[in-house]
Amino acid sequence: MPEDITAELESEELVPPAEPKAAHQPLDKAIESQADLSAEINAIGEAYQQALKDGAQPETQPRLDYPPYRSSILRHPTKSLQHADPETIELYSPAFGHQDVHALESDLTIQHNGEPLGERIIVSGKVLDGEGRPVAGQLVEIWQANSSGRYIHKRDQHPAPIDPNFTGIGRCITGPDGSYRFVTIKPGAYPWKNHLNAWRPAHIHFSLFGTEFTQRIITQMYFPGDQLFPLDPIYQTIVDQDARDRLVATYDHSLTEPEWALGYNWDIVLTGPKRTWTENEAFGTAGDSSDEAGE
Ligand SMILES: [Fe+2]
Repeated sequence: MPEDITAELESEELVPPAEPKAAHQPLDKAIESQADLSAEINAIGEAYQQALKDGAQPETQPRLDYPPYRSSILRHPTKSLQHADPETIELYSPAFGHQDVHALESDLTIQHNGEPLGERIIVSGKVLDGEGRPVAGQLVEIWQANSSGRYIHKRDQHPAPIDPNFTGIGRCITGPDGSYRFVTIKPGAYPWKNHLNAWRPAHIHFSLFGTEFTQRIITQMYFPGDQLFPLDPIYQTIVDQDARDRLVATYDHSLTEPEWALGYNWDIVLTGPKRTWTENEAFGTAGDSSDEAGE
């Protein structure tokens, strides 16, 4: 070992220990176990159940301040945001044309020369308003990890293979009946560094626009029966089970195509008591955020 490095190591050993870090600092996450996180998740869940018994209203929105979701602690808003006139924003925000989205963009398995690896699936459903009416002409965008759980993103460097035939991005416009349909590959679970041995359940990110960009909502769709649900601090930011269930697709054999792909149905309800949970940009992103490689 070169002498200068040895000296550096020795001098580090002489440095007095740092002050204890405040609770829930992200730097502490590497030493926290799933058991630690699960205990917190369960305690919050039990407190919520008790609140319901005591007469509290069911919560249908995620908790922005959700300590088990460590990486959100320093980025979730703690003050009311500045409100802006949406009509003013629209004067300089981008817009998309109805001709800009090609039908082939809804098939994520044909974007390269070869076929991607993994389980081919069809994900389809309807975008509905709170009265159950279809929302036509809605731009629906998705992004996801490949079958190995790897995103093509510089911040995703975990040791799972990139699939050269799968980018993981698609979009479509809802039809007159509010329906959308994607052909894709079932994404894999992947690790993230919220705590030791943290894994995200398999999911597909969804973004929907209204008639303007300022109406954008973002959410995630999950797959039924995932063993990681109780362990995932992002999924658990929604404390109400009914609200959580609305993020989970249903296996639909009528959508499954012989010798081709398994079908999953997932409707997205924009408003009302049965609305799909979304990451409310007006109040910050409590679930995934677009600035992270793919939580
Ligand atoms: Fe993700």
